[in-house]
Amino acid sequence: MKKIIDRWSRLYAHRIELLKSSATRDLMGAASRPDMISFAGGLPSPETFDTELIKRILFELMENSGKEALQYGPTEGRYELREKICNLMSRIGLKAHPDNIIITSGAQQALDIIGKLFLEPGAAAILETPSYPGALNAFQIYEPHILTVPLKEDGMDIEQLRKILSRKSIPPRFIYTIPNFHNPAGVTLSLDKRKELAKLASENEILIIEDNAYGDLSFEGEQIPPLKSINEDVVYLGTLSKILSPGIRIGWVFASVALIQKINAAKQGADLCTSTLSQMLAEQFLDAIDLDAHLKKIREIYRIRRDTMIKALEEFFPEESSWTKPLGGFYLWVVINADINTTDMMPEALNEKVIYVPGEGFYLNNEGKNAMRLSFCNPTPEQIYEGIERLAEVVKEQIHLSRTIIGINKKPRRSERSSTE
Ligand SMILES: Cc1ncc(COP(=O)(O)O)c(C=O)c1O
Repeated sequence: MKKIIDRWSRLYAHRIELLKSSATRDLMGAASRPDMISFAGGLPSPETFDTELIKRILFELMENSGKEALQYGPTEGRYELREKICNLMSRIGLKAHPDNIIITSGAQQALDIIGKLFLEPGAAAILETPSYPGALNAFQIYEPHILTVPLKEDGMDIEQLRKILSRKSIPPRFIYTIPNFHNPAGVTLSLDKRKELAKLASENEILIIEDNAYGDLSFEGEQIPPLKSINEDVVYLGTLSKILSPGIRIGWVFASVALIQKINAAKQGADLCTSTLSQMLAEQFLDAIDLDAHLKKIREIYRIRRDTMIKALEEFFPEESSWTKPLGGFYLWVVINADINTTDMMPEALNEKVIYVPGEGFYLNNEGKNAMRLSFCNPTPEQIYEGIERLAEVVKEQIHLSRTIIGINKKPRRSERSSTE
């Protein structure tokens, strides 16, 4: 790649060195090449976008309320949309008033503002590991001390969290968690652990940031109540990106009125308001659809893709591999129990026209080298099957190579030496 000289680098604030472009975003270019099968980005399936309905809504919006839709709006978002978001959340047991809601430009903006409000050099925050790179990126720029809690099959390792909290060194400002269908790990926090986490946060007087980006995409089993329904101090983040469209950039925060006011002030400096047109489109969309039927349809699309991916992994991947079996969402986490580096393996995968996100990008330290995140949301079932077969060949070759190299460099054990030595 051509090295770009930046004449102004001496002028940047020193924290800019902490700014890392996310591997997932960087791979978007490669993912769009013809014939490439991409398990990289978390792009919703285009099949879930109801373009006909949206075309009709946009046309009617311009006909009937074009001048309003093209105008600035209040920073906290349109009252009508905030009301509809309250209705949406009541379906999962959350009772909110529009005053407790602020509309953000995607949940991503909420993460950035939370970083801005709570973090500074020396402040601590607790994150799951691995975690969503968009959150790592949003938080790290404020130079906090990030403490990490590993994930287990049923979510955060609560005993580790307890240990961290019992160390009285720097009291953390918040615990950031993705309890449902985790990005990237695909795991879900159990109800018992939700209760323990909520209790620990209350006892230690710290906030929980509950990022429920994928909560509506459950494929099976009972939906577990959100942390916010267990502990009312939780700051809850939602988004329409995964169920309507990420292109319209509508997310929200549900929190106390005092915190919403602080978020409002921070958002004024970021974008004044979220697009009025997008907000009005979201309102009309939520009015026009039968939400249950819509969710049933899109969950089925993703469930079939998850099942196809798991079936293909079982069929093609080498025995050294293991993976999570997500109950919803977009992602599955694969670990290869061998001496391979999934970042170094990427050029081989690109040669085979298949792409994934190497595990390293989801960690702050050097972990995750033998792991990868596979998204099943965007490729069709046929592409998933084909892509996993191709990727399996690449992985097998890497395992083979790593063993050959070790074999060459390794000094033979006494028992392996020939008698003529
Ligand atoms: C866990 C998580 N939180 C937040 C976001 C940001 O979503 P939005 O499109 O609402 O900004 C994503 C996007 O992939 C995500 O995976």
